[in-house]
Amino acid sequence: MSGFDFSFYRKSADYVKSIVKDEPETAVILGSGLGDFASHISDAVSIPYNEIPNFPVSTVPSHEGKLIFGKIGEKKVACMSGRFHHYEGYSFKQLSAPVRLFKLLGVKRVILTNAAGGVNESYRPGDIMVIKDHIKLTSLSPMEGENLPEFGERFFDVSDMYTGKLREKALKLSDGSGLTFHEGVYMYFGGPQFETPAEIRMARLLGADAVGMSTVPEALTAAHCRMPLLGFSVITNMAAGVIPNAEITHEEVGQQAGLISERFSAYMKKVIENL
Ligand code: HPA
Repeated sequence: MSGFDFSFYRKSADYVKSIVKDEPETAVILGSGLGDFASHISDAVSIPYNEIPNFPVSTVPSHEGKLIFGKIGEKKVACMSGRFHHYEGYSFKQLSAPVRLFKLLGVKRVILTNAAGGVNESYRPGDIMVIKDHIKLTSLSPMEGENLPEFGERFFDVSDMYTGKLREKALKLSDGSGLTFHEGVYMYFGGPQFETPAEIRMARLLGADAVGMSTVPEALTAAHCRMPLLGFSVITNMAAGVIPNAEITHEEVGQQAGLISERFSAYMKKVIENL
């Protein structure tokens, strides 16, 4: 049909496997301003996205655009430094590429991170939200079009998409991190504009605790191929209208993420070592 058949994804995986011989156990996708984590990977081998056949290329300046393979402690990891977003012009279907690549590389679980706006008024910039569930009002899905049974079923369950057991572990491991943790609901907005204050009031009414422009397509792709998943939102700003007359900027998002990135990286290391 659309060219996105199983061999399309396998071509990316075959290329990566020709370079990386070890099967990574855990894959991490890094959000805006959280690239510091990648510097903690030992024995690192990097592959720029543009070298991988059939793989998208990132267009956001603060997102680097490479896959890094190596170790965190004794654990083998794959890490995406630079992710893809629908607002860059990629279809939801194209956004399935990273997690499907991980699946074909033998990855056992995926950790998604993002920068997000705080909707819950008890949250503060710099806090971390373990994603419990998500809300997506657009009907777009990375699994639209022909189903690929090699990955999963046409109709698939998403009631434990952000795997409960992993969330429990993640929250237990947060002690001593020097960060404030919450567990909450992430609501997807397409961007690239930040939300309106009215949209944020709606999000709060619907049960959202944080909002952002990523993660959901990748989470759905993981659920489709039954890959356990952990998601973290770094609250980089209070969402639109929460603080009267406060402007939201991409710079502020980057700065706030930068302030906690070292502590967050250390925490992520601990999580990966204990999974
Ligand atoms: N809205 C959407 N995405 C974001 C925000 C926000 O307020 N902050 C960081 N990413």
